[in-house]
Amino acid sequence: MGERPVLEILKDRVAAKQAVGLTRRLVSVGPACGRHVTVRGRRCLLMASNDYLGLAGHPRLAAAAQEAAAACGTGSGASRLISGTLESHLELEWAIARFKHAPAALFFPTGYMTNLGVVSTLAGEGDLIVSDALNHASLIDACRLSRAQVAVFPHGDAARAEELLAQGPADRVKLLVSDGVFSMDGELAPVPELLAAARRQNALLVIDDAHATGVWGATGRGTLEHYGLEPEPQVVMAGTFSKALGGLGGFAAGAPEVIEALVHGARSLLYSTAPPPAQAAVALAGLELVDAEPWRREHLCALSALLRRRLAEAGLTSVGRAGPIVPVLTGSAQASLQLAEGLWERGIFAPAVRPPTVPEGASRIRLTVTAAHQESDIEQAAQALADAAREAGL
Ligand SMILES: Cc1ncc(COP(=O)(O)O)c(C=O)c1O
Repeated sequence: MGERPVLEILKDRVAAKQAVGLTRRLVSVGPACGRHVTVRGRRCLLMASNDYLGLAGHPRLAAAAQEAAAACGTGSGASRLISGTLESHLELEWAIARFKHAPAALFFPTGYMTNLGVVSTLAGEGDLIVSDALNHASLIDACRLSRAQVAVFPHGDAARAEELLAQGPADRVKLLVSDGVFSMDGELAPVPELLAAARRQNALLVIDDAHATGVWGATGRGTLEHYGLEPEPQVVMAGTFSKALGGLGGFAAGAPEVIEALVHGARSLLYSTAPPPAQAAVALAGLELVDAEPWRREHLCALSALLRRRLAEAGLTSVGRAGPIVPVLTGSAQASLQLAEGLWERGIFAPAVRPPTVPEGASRIRLTVTAAHQESDIEQAAQALADAAREAGL
């Protein structure tokens, strides 16, 4: 008997996912960014973007990209260690460090590559990584890549994290890793408790502030500011420009020893072409706008609270108490698909989020609010959700 053709094996694997409601499609949302998109021919209110401050459509970011491309070209031509380090990268890294109140910072092509680089460089074979059970996929992949011993603690359980750290080998690096704001729940990590545990156990604390930067804290500095903490040498902040900052690219900020270690070992930085000048210019302009337009954060806060209130009035349970990520749990993957379809029919685009992005049985519609929304948008989305949920029998 001959071997099964390899493409057939792949086809069967996809079919197995489709059979349990996990069909994936890359859905075009049209050319626009902002409040409205066109999905399958229908103009929809977008309630699924991480552009929390609404900066992706800001004319100053577009102008920054155009000016940088016109002045410096469209590509950086090499990796950072060869000839790809441009003045704009260094200027941005100073700005990131100032923004995060950290002594040093490093710009990466994406947030995903930041996490891969940070975690797999700071911890290696013989070291220990203690990681929250609900950490983002990029942190999970980074743990695997590191070859360090990995211990996963129950979500948000700082006491258990400390127990695991205490069992780590002496004179080796111990890394405590957590999302600052969990991407699918919108909830905050217990950063003060994690930091105390890291201090007592001589561990580095890595916080991925991808969903907090620009949004959380009185001036949008992220989870440390929200909790009234100042960065300290034991803390490494990671983040991204792709969400509230309206651009693309990631960053790590922390002690000079940490940044030096990354420059010497982060393969996702060293073996990838440096971000083009326009990307750095957009990132810099985004950081400046966080300070220059604080009304965006205030507006976002008010709209997020309004959406939560309206969903509660409609008898729908959303996860979390604050912030622009408002997930509505449906349980099964099929139910989340049905609800997403009902929303689309009512002119709202918020796709279903299903395993493995979230745990089995925790499928959901992850609604997100942005500063580009208006109050009437939130009222429309809440009404549509209530109607679609009733129709779906939820
Ligand atoms: C918590 C978290 N970290 C990192 C990333 C990756 O960031 P980027 O999209 O910039 O690669 C994401 C999402 O994309 C995220 O949700």
